[in-house]
Parts: sequence; C-alpha cells; structure tokens
Amino acid sequence: MTATQTQWPFFTYRGNELHVEGVPLRQVAETVGTPAYVYSRAALEERFDSLATAFAQVPHLICYSVKANSNLAVLRTFARRGGGFDIVSAGELYRVQQAGGDPAKVVYSGVGKSPEEVRTALRAGILLFNVESLAELEMLDQVAAQEGRIAPVALRINPDVDPQTHPYIATGLRKSKFGVPMADAVDAYRHARGFRHLRIIGLDCHIGSQLTSLAPFRDALHRVRDLWQRLVREGFHIEVIDVGGGLGIRYRDENPPSFAEYAQTVIDALQPFSGTIVLEPGRSLVGNAGVLLTRVQYLKQTGEKTFVIVDAAMNDLIRPSLYGSYQEILPVQPSNHQESAIVDVVGPVCESGDFLARDRELPPVRPGDLLAVMSAGAYGFVMASNYNTRPRAAEVLVDGNVFSLVRLRETYPDLLRGETIPTWLD
Ligand code: LLP
Repeated sequence: MTATQTQWPFFTYRGNELHVEGVPLRQVAETVGTPAYVYSRAALEERFDSLATAFAQVPHLICYSVKANSNLAVLRTFARRGGGFDIVSAGELYRVQQAGGDPAKVVYSGVGKSPEEVRTALRAGILLFNVESLAELEMLDQVAAQEGRIAPVALRINPDVDPQTHPYIATGLRKSKFGVPMADAVDAYRHARGFRHLRIIGLDCHIGSQLTSLAPFRDALHRVRDLWQRLVREGFHIEVIDVGGGLGIRYRDENPPSFAEYAQTVIDALQPFSGTIVLEPGRSLVGNAGVLLTRVQYLKQTGEKTFVIVDAAMNDLIRPSLYGSYQEILPVQPSNHQESAIVDVVGPVCESGDFLARDRELPPVRPGDLLAVMSAGAYGFVMASNYNTRPRAAEVLVDGNVFSLVRLRETYPDLLRGETIPTWLD
C-alpha cells in the first residue's frame, strides 16, 4: 500500500491522515458520522475535463451515465461543465432536471421504457431515444402521435462482441437482452422508417462495463461503422453515433486505457463519420472520485479467521458481495508500529455474503478506527438498499478545504415512509 496511488490523486495522506482534497476524512466522520460516502469535486471535474479534452478534435457530447452515481450534487457538477446525461428511467430524468441538467442533452436507453416514461421524456424534449426493440419503436411512435411530437431515435445495436468483463455487466453479446441483433439491424432501420412520428437520426451501442482493453471497443465500433455506411447507402441521415460507456478504472492493479487512448480508438474506428459522437461514461468519471468511509466496531477471532467488523455493509456497497469485486481499503489514520494481518472486513448484515473484503492484508486496526473503502464513487450509494432496516448512508461532497452534506443519512421514520397497517389488523 503506497500513500497515494495513481488512481486517487485527490485522496492523499497528509500528516499521517487520509484527506479528500484539503479535508481530513476524520473530520468528515466526526461531523456526519459513519458510514458515509465522500466524493471529491476536483476529482469529478478533472475526469470530465480530461475526457472532453481527449475528444476535443471531433463534435461530441459527454452524456454522463446517471446510474453510476445519481446524487444531485454530482449531476450538477457535470451539468455546470456543459455535460449531458444518459438516463434509463423517468426517475433519472427527474433527477437530471432537479439538478439543473439540460433535457436537450439527454439520451434515454433501456429495454423496458414504459409509455408513461416515454411521454415524460418527449415532453421534456430529450435529444435521443435509444430504442432497443421493434415493439418499443411502435410504442414510441404511438405515444409521440398522441403528444403531437416527433421522437428523435437511434437504434441500439447489439454488436455481439465479448467485452471480456464480468458476465453480469457484459451487455454486447448476442445472448444478452440488450439492443437489436446486428443481423437484424438493417431491417429494423427500414422498419423504423415507416413510422410517421419518429425521426431516425442515430445509431447506438454499448457493450459492457469495466472494460480494461480497447480491443472490444474497436471491434464493436468497426461493426457500427460498417452498419452506418450501409445505412448511408440506404438514404438514412445518421447525425449521431452513441458509443455508450464502459471504460474501466483501476480498482487494484488493472491498467485501463487512458481517455486519450480511448478517444483515439473511438475516433479512428468510426472514420469517416463526421457527425456527433455521444459518449455515456459512468464509472470512468465517478468511480475513483469517491470513497465509503466506515468505522471499525469490533475485532473477532475465530479458529479460522480474523474478522474486522465495520459499520458499513453489503446494503451500503454491494459490489464485493454481488460481483466478488475488489475494493481497496485504506486506514484513515494508519499506525506504523505493528505487523499487518490477513482479515475479512465484514458488516453487520445477517448474511455470510456480507463482506467488503476477504482474506485481505490490512495494517493493524482497532475498534474505533476509520477505514476508507476506495473507488466507491460508482455503483456504490446508487445500489444501496435498506436490507436489515439499515438507514442508507450520508453522502458528502468535498470542495477544496470545505465539504457539504449532499444527502442526509436516512432516519428510521424515512425507512417506514409509505407503510401502513390496515385497519383490519387492529
Ligand atoms: N450506457 C449504458 C446503456 C449502460 O447500460 C451503462 C452501464 C453505461 C452507459 C455506463 O457504463 P460505465 O461507463 O459506468 O461502465 N453495477 C455494475 C455496473 C453496471 C453497468 C450497467 N450499465 C458494477 O457495479 O460494476
């Protein structure tokens, strides 16, 4: 464990205390309690700006994928920089609007959009519907007709490439539920042309998440480019190619491509397309911009193992339990005296699968110590639940030497909101 590894330039040890920018995590814990998600504004902005720089030579729009981290303050940070948004529900559209995002820069993906959601998005005037099936085309045309509007449409194509990632987050294989199969794509476009309330302006694909090599992107985008050229010959005017998200980050020792390498691959693969390239990055913008701050409650030795029992659990951060994924854990105030040990870091939830780390070498920790679960900015809080009637954690955004609570820790009444006991149980 080095003091500051390359993936977390805004999370550094100063005076033997882990800081987020200029703020000691200890101070955050003392103020808002634990567990808490803590994000760095500078890290978010640095990521966004460096992606924008990488694509500066071509017309492009960065549509941040809201599902990765939908906190209003995070959305506002990107909206202020001119970012658009990739949504998968009307709920996400509502968040974007509440955060001051521009609906005219919103793209809407997902296999199960409801007519009501589509109506809401049409009224808001979004940029693009990424349509995933023929049945959805038909529904969208009907709703657009009722609304007296023309819906801007891209078809999401499933390019059938293996993104070489965890099977739960691979989406571009033929067997996945996403997109229109490549073999049916031209027919689907011809079919789409027949609807009077749709305007076919785009081509979309997204192949999976946490991709750490460029080859799958290159393969998929070559197929997309070939299809685009075919569509041009058929008289379609494709103004937008949406290349989805999926670029991976370093959690441990992965070496994902840089934004510059990624941009060059995308731009080269789509040559000579000269319209707008839409990007849907999620994890690569927010993943390494946040940590989950937790406090050690107990140490427990069994014959087999040493358990470090902390106050965050799988309901707060489910990635280790769900995907077996690795999240680095750093002590907030390391002591350099004793030997490190191999431990399991577990939470209070009543499941054996409730762990944040297994067989992990950690420096010595004591009850009361604070730990930072790193790389928790993406798919962290958004996947949290109230399992075991645990209030969801607070969220904090740091800006230089100051920080703000950007989401209150839930209270017990919050957890019961909407529940009633029927009178016949009186
Ligand atoms: N666009 C579409 C259509 C997507 O389905 C996704 C992610 C993205 C963009 C953003 O992908 P990113 O750039 O973040 O890889 N919960 C999982 C990840 C699920 C990703 C779902 N789709 C995890 O914690 O690893």
